[in-house]
Amino acid sequence: MISLILCAAGSGERANLPVNKIFYPLEGMPVLCRSLSAFAPFADEMLVCCRAEDEADILPLLSPYENARTVRGGATRAETVRLALEAVSGDIVLVHDAARPFVTAKIIRDCIESVKTYGSGVCSLPATDTVVFTGKGYETPSRDHIYTVQTPQGFRTDRLRAAYAAALCAGACDRFTDDSGLYAAYAEEPRLFRGDRCNVKLTYPEDFTPAARVGFGTDTHAFAHQDEIDRGIARLNLNYIKLCGVAVPSDRAIEAHSDGDVPVHALMDALLSAIGERDIGYHFPDTDPAYAGADSMKLLERVMKMVHGGGFSVKNASVSILCERPRLSPYIENMRNNLRAALGCEAVGIAAGTNEKLGYIGEGRGITAYATVLLK
Ligand code: CTP
Ligand code: MG
Repeated sequence: MISLILCAAGSGERANLPVNKIFYPLEGMPVLCRSLSAFAPFADEMLVCCRAEDEADILPLLSPYENARTVRGGATRAETVRLALEAVSGDIVLVHDAARPFVTAKIIRDCIESVKTYGSGVCSLPATDTVVFTGKGYETPSRDHIYTVQTPQGFRTDRLRAAYAAALCAGACDRFTDDSGLYAAYAEEPRLFRGDRCNVKLTYPEDFTPAARVGFGTDTHAFAHQDEIDRGIARLNLNYIKLCGVAVPSDRAIEAHSDGDVPVHALMDALLSAIGERDIGYHFPDTDPAYAGADSMKLLERVMKMVHGGGFSVKNASVSILCERPRLSPYIENMRNNLRAALGCEAVGIAAGTNEKLGYIGEGRGITAYATVLLK
C-alpha cells in the first residue's frame, strides 16, 4: 500500500503573495490541488499536512478524494514529515512538497519503482550550475557527482520512521531540509532517480509569473488631403508614409504628431499591454513637443528596453495593416526585417489588406493597424 505525505504546512513567506502559496491559483487551479491530483492515481492514502489556520480552507479542496485527509504540520518541514509519519498506514511512503505542482506521472511512477526495487527513490537532477563552497576559502567541486534534489522522495515507511526516530534522539531533525539527507545520515544511502526540470518548487514571487504573456494593440491615423497640405493645414507634407520604418511612396501623407507609423504604434501598444504598462499615449504624449515628428522605430527601441527590463523577450509578433492605397506588398519584406531587428525575434508576420472600399479605410480616408505579440 502506498501513502502520500503532501507537505503543505509552510507559510510561503518568500513568495510574498496575499495568500499562502499553496492556495495560489495556477490557471484557476490552486497549487495544492495540482500536486494532489497528480498523486491521486498512484496513492492509496493521501495525508495533507497543514497549519491549523489553513485547515478550513484545505478541507474543501480534498473533497474529490475519498482517501485524502489532513494532518497537523510542524514548525519545520522535518517536524511536519515526522508528525505525518505517525499517521501513515502504507508500507511505502512518498513525501512530496505541495509547492511542486508540476510533478509528472512519470516521476511518480519512477519513484515508486525505485522504492520497490532499491528501497528508496529520490527525485534529482545532475547539477547544471557550478556549485561553490564558501566560508573557508572558495572551492568549486567537480560537477560530476553533484545533484540537485527535488521531491517526491519515496521510502519503505518503517525505514524512514526509524531514521526520523534516530534523528529526533540526536536532536538533529531540523538540520535537514529534505528527507533524503536525514535518511542518508540515519538509515542508508538513498537511491537517486532522474527528475525533470519542469518539477520546480514555487518559492519566489517570480515563480508565479505566467511563463508567457500575450498583448494586443491597434492604431488608426487619417490621411491628409492634398489641398489641406497645400494650405498648410495638415502637418506633414511628404510624398511617402512611414510603415514599420520603411518609407512607402504615397500621394497622401498621414496626419500625425510623430512620423505616423501606424503599425509600429499598434505594436508598441501590444508590447506595453503585455507587460502590464500604460499605453504609448501615456509614455510618449502627443502634446509633448519632444515627440513632434518622432521616429517611431526609435520609440519602439525604448519600449523594447521596458520589455527586456521586465524579464521578457518576444516569441512572435503578428501585424495586420488595412488601407486602400498605397499597395504595400512590395514593401512587406523590408518592413518585416525592420521589425525582426527591433524585436530581436525572427517570427514576425505582417499581413496587408484593403477594406473592400467600405468605411473610412475603404474610402481612403485612413489607415488602421492591429498587432498581437507573445512574450516569454
Ligand atoms: N512545509 C511544511 N511544513 C513546514 C514548512 C514547509 O509542510 N513547517 C512545506 C511547504 O508548505 C512547501 C514545502 O514544505 O510545500 C517546501 O517548503 P518551502 O518551499 O520552504 O515552503 P514554505 O516554508 O511554505 O515557504 P517559505 O520558506 O518561503 O516560508
Ligand atoms: Mg520554508
